[in-house]
Amino acid sequence: MQSGSERGGTAINDVVSIERQGPLALIALDNPPVNAASHAVRSGLWQAIEALQAEPDTRVIALYGKGRTFIAGADIREFGKPPKDPWLPDLCNFIEDCETPVVCVLHGTTLGGGLEVALASHLRVALPGTRVGLPEVTLGILPGAGGTQRAPRLAGVSAALDLITSGKPLAVEKALEHGLIDRIEDGLPRDVALRAAQAVLDGHDRTRRTRDIAVEPDAEAFEAMRAKLKKTQPLLFSPHKCVDAVAASQLPLSEGLKEERRLFNECMDSPQRAGLIHAFFAERAVAKIPEASAKPRDIQNIGVIGGGTMGSGIATAALLAGFSVTMTERDQAGLDRGTATIGKNLEGAVKRGKLSTEGRDEILSAKLSTATELDALADADLIIEAVFEDMDVKKDIFGTLDKIAKPGAVLASNTSYLDVNEIAAATGRPEDVIGLHFFSPAHIMRLMEVVVAEKTSADAVATGFALAKKLKKIAVRSGVCDGFIGNRIMTFYKKAADYMMMDGASPEEIDRAITGFGFAMGPYQVADLAGLDISWAANKRRAATRPAEERYIPIADEICEKGWFGRKTGQGFYVYDADGTRPNPEALAIIDEERARAGVTPRTFSGDEIVSRFVTAMILEATRVLEEGIALRPVDIDAVFLFGYGFPRFRGGPMHTADQIGAAELVRRIETYAQEDSYYWQVPVLLRKLAEGSGTFAEMNES
Ligand code: 3HC
Ligand code: NAI
Repeated sequence: MQSGSERGGTAINDVVSIERQGPLALIALDNPPVNAASHAVRSGLWQAIEALQAEPDTRVIALYGKGRTFIAGADIREFGKPPKDPWLPDLCNFIEDCETPVVCVLHGTTLGGGLEVALASHLRVALPGTRVGLPEVTLGILPGAGGTQRAPRLAGVSAALDLITSGKPLAVEKALEHGLIDRIEDGLPRDVALRAAQAVLDGHDRTRRTRDIAVEPDAEAFEAMRAKLKKTQPLLFSPHKCVDAVAASQLPLSEGLKEERRLFNECMDSPQRAGLIHAFFAERAVAKIPEASAKPRDIQNIGVIGGGTMGSGIATAALLAGFSVTMTERDQAGLDRGTATIGKNLEGAVKRGKLSTEGRDEILSAKLSTATELDALADADLIIEAVFEDMDVKKDIFGTLDKIAKPGAVLASNTSYLDVNEIAAATGRPEDVIGLHFFSPAHIMRLMEVVVAEKTSADAVATGFALAKKLKKIAVRSGVCDGFIGNRIMTFYKKAADYMMMDGASPEEIDRAITGFGFAMGPYQVADLAGLDISWAANKRRAATRPAEERYIPIADEICEKGWFGRKTGQGFYVYDADGTRPNPEALAIIDEERARAGVTPRTFSGDEIVSRFVTAMILEATRVLEEGIALRPVDIDAVFLFGYGFPRFRGGPMHTADQIGAAELVRRIETYAQEDSYYWQVPVLLRKLAEGSGTFAEMNES
């Protein structure tokens, strides 16, 4: 270690430094962007504490982070690699054992291992606006550096269980109320650190070791949490282990820590941990696009064409993000409907605490305007079309927009399936045309596919991504094809479900198996919710070009012919009424009739077989989407399904799941199923190559 002057800073390494102020010593951490507790941070901090506690003249040590946050957790990128000394749990014990009082200053998002370092310190002072939490459970693990042992000592069992099993961060005021921090003080982290250290020296602030606090037994809290998790998180591994770990806090600290370590290792080894961490990075990886360096266009005013389900949802999302919105409809009645839906959506935001009533009134009076003519969009910087899914209607609108939109305006379509190249060709400025495919309800769902057509300019693409960020959505880049990444793959795997339905599985059995796999809803529950009429229209559109070899299942179309479109009409595959939801006997009768007409003898499908066929079909089409360059990388497909289609987060997405199953096994399955239907079940070239040993989908993410 270098020796420094009395007052100047001494660098321990690239990320940790010491500053001495007479009897006070400050340790600064500087590991951008989020001060993750990487190996360098851990070893630097260890050396700093070791050196300072050996100095008789140093009476108080204060620890703070430079930049936007104190430590936001362990360095997740080191997970799965051989661990390097010192480990975070040992560092926390070392801090707690330190003879010299250690004050910790928290700011930004002090999460996971960062909060654990703070809990092991002898006094905690937080800046206003700090958020503290133990989000490990969201990554499939548990707080493994003493968090499960020290949080209950400071906050009590019940609050600690909530914090650890939910993974949700707390506002600093709540953290203070729970005793997780000692006080709140405004200022820059370094100044607060210096003042807090002085307060300890002067005897104004008392320090103590968390390990010395006994945990009050609270059997009821454990029982209630176990019962709740059994009901709400039956498929997840780590939340239950979190409860076991907190239960060990009633032991002496050293024994509790051993139990925490044992349970932490179990979580680390679980495939759910790998899936959840993949999902964490997927959310961030999708922003890495070829157009990332292009300058987004400035967007202030947004035009939305159509005030139906999607138009009103998109307008709501834009209004909530602070944009001015002009919505157009065909007539006043359409506008009234759209405005009423926006009002209802905003009311929902008020109820969820996301918006004040004054904020809502301000939005409705000053930010939203409406019109029945497209001319009203002449000043819009971005226009999003959300009218009927009909190519002629869309081309007509884009032709008009070409005449009225200001130069440089981005012209976007929210089409679910249609060819964005063809829509762009209806204008004289195809470089400005893009697909912005939102998901319903558009003000809630996080996914947005940014569909890049042949002539779309790089800055229009960058504008789509910048917009998503402002809307707090996750944008995924997609090329043009029928249905883009998500709906194209969904259309394909939905057929696998229909084939199983035709061959003997009931819609309810299929839905049960798929929700058992972890999807929020099964394919028939989704179809009923989205409206069966939507896929009916798509089926009619595709009828003329449907290959003769394709096995076509007309059951859903026949249900539609009865006027049953799912939830919105009270029945579809299920009946929805005052008595609840149950399988629709009339739909089951249609299924029976179709089977009889086609000469199918129904057979039994196990839940495992249903999942196997469904997931294999999904991966099969996803691989084609990748081969064709529609998706940039496997991780983009994972993000689409995680954030737009309810794919279970703990499984990391279809491509991550594909690696877990293994390409060779997937090829074997496809070849087996192909014995029944060799047109539908064809092995993609890429999958065969992977099966022959040329790598994994994960490796393709890195290249
Ligand atoms: N380790 C490694 N990298 C991390 C990280 C971490 N803990 N947290 C964030 N990063 C990276 C991100 O991947 C991103 O990298 P990129 O720029 O290359 O894509 C960069 O830091 C910035 O992150 P965000 O874009 O997410 O920045 P935001 O400001 O939006 O959010 C945050 C900041 C709230 C801290 C958010 O990043 C976050 O939630 N991080 C994870 C926090 C967490 O889960 N901590 C617990 C870790 S597990 C643990 O501590 C185990 C212990 O108990 C032993
Ligand atoms: P919708 O039928 O609820 O709304 C369409 C609205 O457009 C109607 O209110 C209609 O009056 C209006 N409209 C039609 N022509 C117009 C014109 N020339 N000028 C102004 N308004 C006009 O349909 P929905 O569901 O909102 O779908 C709209 C688009 O969004 C479609 O392209 C659809 O494929 C797509 N989409 C739909 C999703 C869904 O879940 N419903 C999800 C994602 C995309």
